[in-house]
Amino acid sequence: MSKWLDHAIFYEVYPQSFMDSNADGIGDFKGIQSKLSYIKELGCNAIWMNPCFDSSFYDGGYDVRDYYTTAARYGTNEDLRELIEAVHAHGMHILLDLVAGHTSIEHPWFAASCKDAKNEYSDRYIWRNFGGPRNQSYENIAGFISGFSERPAMAAYNCFTSQPCLNYGFAKVTEPWQFSADSKEAEATRLMLQDIMSFWLDLGCDGFRVDMAGSLVKEDYDHKCTIRLWQKIRAFLDERYPDSVLISEWGNPLEALEAGFHMDFLLHFGPSHYMDLFRENPYFSANGTDDLTEFMEYYTNCYEKTKDHGLMCIPSGNHDMVRMRDTLSLEEMKLAFAFLLTMPGCPFIYYGDEIGMQYMHGLVSKEGAYERTGSRTPMQWDHRVNAGFSAAAPSKLYLPVDRSEDRPCVLCQNEDDNSLLKHVQLLTHFRGEHSALNSNASFRFLMDGKGYPLVYERWNEEEDLLVAFNPSKEAVQFQLDSEKILENVLLSHMDASVENEKEIHLPAGSYLVCQLH
Ligand code: NOJ
Repeated sequence: MSKWLDHAIFYEVYPQSFMDSNADGIGDFKGIQSKLSYIKELGCNAIWMNPCFDSSFYDGGYDVRDYYTTAARYGTNEDLRELIEAVHAHGMHILLDLVAGHTSIEHPWFAASCKDAKNEYSDRYIWRNFGGPRNQSYENIAGFISGFSERPAMAAYNCFTSQPCLNYGFAKVTEPWQFSADSKEAEATRLMLQDIMSFWLDLGCDGFRVDMAGSLVKEDYDHKCTIRLWQKIRAFLDERYPDSVLISEWGNPLEALEAGFHMDFLLHFGPSHYMDLFRENPYFSANGTDDLTEFMEYYTNCYEKTKDHGLMCIPSGNHDMVRMRDTLSLEEMKLAFAFLLTMPGCPFIYYGDEIGMQYMHGLVSKEGAYERTGSRTPMQWDHRVNAGFSAAAPSKLYLPVDRSEDRPCVLCQNEDDNSLLKHVQLLTHFRGEHSALNSNASFRFLMDGKGYPLVYERWNEEEDLLVAFNPSKEAVQFQLDSEKILENVLLSHMDASVENEKEIHLPAGSYLVCQLH
């Protein structure tokens, strides 16, 4: 695994909404480039950029029309190369977003696949004859679309009807129109994907976040065939691009890391109980649940089984979920970030979460975002027009800027020593100074799930740290039940303290990091 992942802290950039350099109302590569110092000062040293290839934009770029050309609205391939070089010159890394499972309905490959005459792309997608039971469903296929092809058949789609599935085959072939996962047709799709990856790795990117990585092979209930597919891709990358890095949108680290991904996300859907942390009725809210048992059970089980061969990554949010600030106050978010930045795996900070940007309710959907629209609004930099995001007329913006009077911004939080931004900066730097907080340093919980405080230990051969949180409204204490003693308090928020080398006192809304000896 690439060494830089040991101390990587990622920043997710949604290119549409980060920084507009040419006043057309939408973010772009040059805008991102102009803000690399900001990302670096925040303490992040790696970037995941959401899809930036030519697209129909029926799903914010997750519907690619040309995998080899950047979307004109962000800039040219050459502009992207320059951005990547600038990222490296800042001592940082960048992962691109690879939409592996489907293309846009407007992709020329799909147009060719629709033709009646057999051609190179006929089997690049999953086509089903008109006959047979119409309402039969298949695992990992959302449905079938028809009406626009010459060939008398229906194409399978993944999410929206504008996203026809690429053909990686079926785990078990039960119908005449299906190909097996090891058929030459499915193999051709894998080779195509490898070619796309090579193209961008040759341009200089450091790897990929892979969209819907776990659902490529259909009817693959135990995901064994999808795992095998990725193992082949990983073997190819290990040989040709040994430093390249892969993180999956899989949501099952046990499978994803076996498949060859270096990292997998805890996701807002699936079995991880991620939502119990920061959203809905979350542990990190003073009014939320006091029960983290299910999260801890899931996390511990996955951690123990994967710790030697990959990382589980916890994001502050992403472009698909309501922002953390919708359920947590700015003060509560300080604890949430302290958790994110002291846990194993690489932390991911979704742009704007570091200043507590709001989820904007009631926006009209943009480019297939629907309820996700409110989490994708322009970054708030300063007090200028459009919060410094763009010099375009406000009516020209891709999405409106938060207009509330107390909207947070980078400039004002930089001027306030108590701000969330300053706090996040402090924590990223703290993580960087303590190798026991590296992504692969050891970890264990020191309490059972229910109640407060939340306490865990991080250690390596150099140091041993204890981290304790009390997000509740009442003060709590913690008694260390071990031969070790509590030493120097390294970070104390809201007067959390250590007494008699064995006791921790945590006022309401506080946390503490200290050494163990
Ligand atoms: C997951 C992406 O994060 C999401 O934004 C997208 O809509 C779906 N995959 C489909 O590609």
